[in-house]
Amino acid sequence: MCGIVGILGLHEVAPTLVEALRRLEYRGYDSAGIATLNDGRLDRRRAVGKLVNLSDLLVHEPLAGKAGIGHTRWATHGAPTLSNTHPHRAGPVAVVHNGIIENYRELRADLAAKGIAHETDTDTETVALLTRYHLEQGLSPVDAARRTLERLEGAYALLFLFDGEPDLMIAARKGSPLAVGHGAGEMFVGSDAIALAPMTDRVTYLEEGDIAVVTRDSLTITDADGAVVERPVKTIRLSNARIDKAGHKHFMAKEVAEQPAVIGDALGHYLSADGRDVVLPGTTLDFNRIERLTMVACGTAYYACLTAKYWFEQLAGLPVDVDIASEFRYREPPITPGTAALFVSQSGETADTLAALRYCRDKADTILSVVNVDESSIARESDLALPILAGPEIGVASTKGFTCQLTVLLLLAIKAAQVRGTMDEEAVADLLSHLRGLPAAISQALEMDEALQQAARHLSEHDHALFLGRGLMFPMALEGALKLKEISYIHAEAYASGELKHGPIALIDKKMPVVIMAPRDALFDKTVSNMQEVMARGGKVMLITDRAGAAVADEGTWHLLVMPEVDPVLTPLLYAIPAQLLAYHTAVAKGTDVDQPRNLAKSVTVE
Ligand code: F6R
Repeated sequence: MCGIVGILGLHEVAPTLVEALRRLEYRGYDSAGIATLNDGRLDRRRAVGKLVNLSDLLVHEPLAGKAGIGHTRWATHGAPTLSNTHPHRAGPVAVVHNGIIENYRELRADLAAKGIAHETDTDTETVALLTRYHLEQGLSPVDAARRTLERLEGAYALLFLFDGEPDLMIAARKGSPLAVGHGAGEMFVGSDAIALAPMTDRVTYLEEGDIAVVTRDSLTITDADGAVVERPVKTIRLSNARIDKAGHKHFMAKEVAEQPAVIGDALGHYLSADGRDVVLPGTTLDFNRIERLTMVACGTAYYACLTAKYWFEQLAGLPVDVDIASEFRYREPPITPGTAALFVSQSGETADTLAALRYCRDKADTILSVVNVDESSIARESDLALPILAGPEIGVASTKGFTCQLTVLLLLAIKAAQVRGTMDEEAVADLLSHLRGLPAAISQALEMDEALQQAARHLSEHDHALFLGRGLMFPMALEGALKLKEISYIHAEAYASGELKHGPIALIDKKMPVVIMAPRDALFDKTVSNMQEVMARGGKVMLITDRAGAAVADEGTWHLLVMPEVDPVLTPLLYAIPAQLLAYHTAVAKGTDVDQPRNLAKSVTVE
């Protein structure tokens, strides 16, 4: 979603602002703009579409100035037009905003009553108009911004820049993250540390309700109660180099290829030195006292939870509820004593997941999270945040984030099984030894790239696809369909194979490819029966199975993709790979924007 950056610099800031916005591109956007202060006067350039349009504009109409703010906009209120593009300006103030001002209609009405008209469709414009009004009432820029912020309801990360104030930037956080970067005589503000990484590695994260008054050599933060507070300066580990494609055509391809390494990192972090035990660093979590696990997430992270349900229930005998965060938060489900609530989020900022966590705050016995971003809101509001150690995920479609989530969730389920006595020491050690072999099996699966590319070429000629799977492969079918639709725009749906006869079989014809994920496990024969039913009706079957499965069920398939064999418990981690590569190559064959698919945002910080 929207990305924000601000710089009080020593040199011209326009090129650095654009470069920082480029590093925020991954969040998803449909227009971009910057405003700078040149000789004390605000000026701005904005362009609809990709950042290259803004860069081109700046070549023809450069912007001078050593202080500036910038924004990539993912449209919420109003279409992605020039007039709706940020920064929004009202006389002497310019603002950029990530989030939603929920009471903007009321604010507009108040402004209209004062004879102040709005010119754009955005909620953000009201922030600029209100601040100009407060300035006209004689308030200083800091007081005018404060007075405006007092009126806002909803979620925001906001930056303000003022005419005649080249050494002042005001930043405010409520619901959307903001980080302040410390330079030598320079200050930076960004939506995340990735944006700031080339400029500084010293960062202060604003907390909920904070307002920061930033100058080139000072940072004064007041908290939600108006008290001046000290927030720590942290050194971030992100290096410039980690945000490149490392020779791959797309970030997604790089991130798919990284999976053996990052899963290895996660295993290294959570396994004891002898590899026979799961160690949850710095925790007193006691699975004997947990009677029920409630897991909540969105999208791909939700499918990771669905997979983990099988693991927690089958390995540890622990009852699990899994819910979509946007449903959970408004359904107000009862949380019974003995419930641990577990939230899974790559970004750690997904608005619905965060709201679900806050709903559980005083109801669940403990709040756990599985996150990729250590400093994220979800991590910080959890009793125990378990990092997945995937490294920055830039492609909008989650890949390594998903498999690292699965890795950590499986380790947690094994720990639960061990503590609850449903797996003995030997069984745990045996499963962990298989798990240690997983990075090698994933590397082998990645070698199927060419076969998947060929299958994808054929798949790309279709408008629809069905994905089927049973047991642990059902969530993988859901994930495969989601990956395919989000980056190739092919309409794809997934069903538990056993559901086929209850409706979806009516869709089967020659134009409906059916992707079936089925390692030769206890449920294999049943899935093969469903596959026969599809083929009997002229459906084209792409079967993804292992050697044992291929030996008995290759006849009549449209495509047969043969995977390495792993312990049945680990199959989701392995079968995620063909699901990802199939979607990736189909998107490449169709020529879509793989890393930034239309309409999608990486970090969904609004409802
Ligand atoms: C799909 C995808 C999304 C995210 C979802 C949750 O490829 O990436 O479905 O999984 O938006 O995001 P996080 O994990 O950041 O909470």
